[in-house]
Amino acid sequence: MFTLTPPMGWNSWNTFAENIDEKLIRDTADVIVEKGLDKLGYNYVIIDDCWSEKVRDKNGRLVADAKKFPSGIKALSDYIHSKGLKFGMYSCSGTLTCAGYPSSYEYEFIDADTFAKWGVDYLKYDFCFKPEFVQGKTLYRRMGTALANCGRDILFAACSWGAEKTHEWIRSTGAGTWRSTGDIFDNWESVKKIILQQVDRTGEYGGSGAMPFGGLGCFNDMDMLIVGMNGKGNVGLGGCTSEEYRTHFSAWAIFASPLIIGCDVRNLDPEAEKILTNKEVIAVNQDVRGAQPYIANEVWLKENNDNTPVVARLLANGDIAVALFNLKDEGSRVDFRGDQLGLSPSTKVRLFARDLWSGEEFEIHNYTYFTHIDAHACKLLRVRVVPQL
Ligand code: GLA
Repeated sequence: MFTLTPPMGWNSWNTFAENIDEKLIRDTADVIVEKGLDKLGYNYVIIDDCWSEKVRDKNGRLVADAKKFPSGIKALSDYIHSKGLKFGMYSCSGTLTCAGYPSSYEYEFIDADTFAKWGVDYLKYDFCFKPEFVQGKTLYRRMGTALANCGRDILFAACSWGAEKTHEWIRSTGAGTWRSTGDIFDNWESVKKIILQQVDRTGEYGGSGAMPFGGLGCFNDMDMLIVGMNGKGNVGLGGCTSEEYRTHFSAWAIFASPLIIGCDVRNLDPEAEKILTNKEVIAVNQDVRGAQPYIANEVWLKENNDNTPVVARLLANGDIAVALFNLKDEGSRVDFRGDQLGLSPSTKVRLFARDLWSGEEFEIHNYTYFTHIDAHACKLLRVRVVPQL
């Protein structure tokens, strides 16, 4: 089904990959509730790849791995629902999942029925092993139609990595979110690459120019969060500093990407918890206006070949969220002017900013804001626009 705000939750892949079982998923659900993460919006608990047996049953149905999930998926789903959470699962549009398990190609309707019977609320749908002779859009439309007819409201989370110009056709499939990039890894290079794929001003990073296509009802998914992984787990390649995790989280917030935690929440470190639970940053991500984010300083970026994107988004109450990124390896001045947000001195508005990480409040004078930002860091401002009539 569609969703009016980017989904939030937790997914098993980044840390655990094939090392999943029902105890891990239950314990994770428990911790999400104990820590109050659900109250902040993190309410989907999602099992990624590697959950099934290697063969279907004699009726062609997917079967859960009996060792990993001895009580069965329905019991697990019931448990998750009993905690007030929602339950997500994973399949793939090709002949095998990315990790080589049975996949939904030519089993779309029977699998949608199985997921509905298990009480699934969210289906991540991957892109591996797609037969060459079928187009991606055909397979996503097929599964979208199967889910729309399965008798249960299941959020369709497409994961075709921006391939085959996903942004051009994804809204026709009924998907509520769509992956615009390849897989994230837990290091700064990966975060930087994904941010630049959204900005996509050079083509150097191979982005599909995905950012303008995100928004209400079909959100651009920049992949799961790595905050708190600290180099551990399946995609933990070196880890990031807290500053870099803050930059990562701010980018996902301003671009209205789903916020799906990928670390082991049972061992959440205090720094990561602070980042993931910043209510004002989450509010930017979840803003119900669903306005398209834009690159305020795109002319500057192009002319100077600079890596300091300023991303802005008009919010439901009339404020403007503005994120200033320094993706370079040395400190840099980063700035924006009112006209880059559509405001000239003739509008006579006053602008008051709140820094959503430091809590600092100040007025922006002369329609110009500039600041020094350390390497790999960012500032996320919420700018209040006060008309002077
Ligand atoms: C692909 C997806 C990942 C993850 C793995 C599982 O690489 O993009 O997010 O689901 O498959 O095998």
